Amino acid sequence: MTTKKLYIKSYGCQMNFYDAQRMTDILKPLGYAVIENPEGADLVILNTCHIREKAEEKVYSDLGRIRAHKDDKMIVAVAGCVGQAEGGEIMRRAPYVDIVLGPQTYHRLPEMIARAHRSQENKQGKAQGPGRGVLDVDFPAESKFDFLPQEHSTVEATAFVAIQEGCDKFCTFCVVPYTRGAEYSRPVTAIIDECKRLVEKGAKEITLLGQNVNAYHGDGPDGNTWGLGRLMEALACLPGLLRLRYTTSHPRDMDEELMVAHRDIPQVMPFLHLPIQSGSDRILEAMNRKHTAAHYLKLIEKMRAFRPDMAFSSDFIVGFPGETEQDFQATLALIEAVGYAQAYSFKYSPRPGTPGALMNDQVPEDIMAERLGRLQDLLNAQQLAFNEKSIGTTQSVLFDRVGKQEGQLLGKTPHFQSTYITAPAELLGRCVDITITKAFANSVTGTPLVIPAQAGTQV
Ligand code: 5AD
Ligand code: SF4
Repeated sequence: MTTKKLYIKSYGCQMNFYDAQRMTDILKPLGYAVIENPEGADLVILNTCHIREKAEEKVYSDLGRIRAHKDDKMIVAVAGCVGQAEGGEIMRRAPYVDIVLGPQTYHRLPEMIARAHRSQENKQGKAQGPGRGVLDVDFPAESKFDFLPQEHSTVEATAFVAIQEGCDKFCTFCVVPYTRGAEYSRPVTAIIDECKRLVEKGAKEITLLGQNVNAYHGDGPDGNTWGLGRLMEALACLPGLLRLRYTTSHPRDMDEELMVAHRDIPQVMPFLHLPIQSGSDRILEAMNRKHTAAHYLKLIEKMRAFRPDMAFSSDFIVGFPGETEQDFQATLALIEAVGYAQAYSFKYSPRPGTPGALMNDQVPEDIMAERLGRLQDLLNAQQLAFNEKSIGTTQSVLFDRVGKQEGQLLGKTPHFQSTYITAPAELLGRCVDITITKAFANSVTGTPLVIPAQAGTQV
């Protein structure tokens, strides 16, 4: 079989990166091997994100660049949430795009590629009929997970497994319920099998993914519905799996079973990404979040009671329609009350088709920018303070990547702090005890106590 070249680029969330990985797994048996640049590719896939306008614009500017490399044999596919949201409109704006697909149909890629080839031949006059692009943005009755290959073709020390997808919550700013579809939980056995294979191939940490991952309610092997806490209890039994994480969670779905999992299961890391978006009850209501700031603070308090060293992160949106300075002050107050280890923050971006885009009182750009600046100053100060507090402590760090500098390794502490050290490459893929010596805004560094097990030498 001749090797074909695949260039695949992902934008946005970790679920998209997981999907891209799975697409490469599907295409591998067809002879596709990944290359790092679009030049000379037989197939280009842009796995897109629709969450904010900026992410969407990026796709069109990247498509323009790819067009320069497009020859007769290159197939260009737009996958992911922009594909789902914009569908055929993409082909009207960029007629050189051959395939548009959504997040729920990528198991059908081989068939779409064959159709695109036939369509290309038509265009070149080698066959009869009009040349047309291939569009597949269905929400099929079958689950794509049942059609994905069992094996992941590449496995790293830190691996990702989608366990839940979609969202039924309809926050008024968010496109996810429209692009990813209704909430769906994979059955427990399928997840355990996938995790088992990853661990056998060398994964040490697994992050369970879902747009509403803690709303997970999958069919268990015992005939009952299992929640995320129960699932992680079962996964913790896999020999060789050292760490479990999950993202992204919704405050309304934090149940006690999950909190107990943080206390009782050593593999479950003491870190939780729990987006609140705003600290103002008025704005939370307009966002249709269906919880208050007080409810969120209670959850944080309860989690800390179960696991005192629990660290938190969140997402924030500034400038949601109607947000006043007073509402914004409530967000700052909430941040002060929680004390985050890290966080993501964004200016509100009105998304077509969402209720927020039609609301009155859209906040002017300059006010959004000013508020975002103040919010980020506070969050950055908290992150630095969190990192500084770890100086002098010894943390187990799982090193999963090499750094840009010679001999540098990168990894994460249990609290998800980015950590870099200069050390032998043999520490890659291992959990190493590191004494933290320095803290920065976005990372910490330190020295290994000893090189573990195999080498057994002092560093
Ligand atoms: N504008 C700005 N940020 C958004 N997010 C989702 N939709 C929007 C939007 N329309 C942010 C939220 C969410 C994160 C993934 O992206 O904070 O938690
Ligand atoms: Fe979007 Fe809200 Fe669903 Fe999260 S919970 S994916 S923010 S609609």
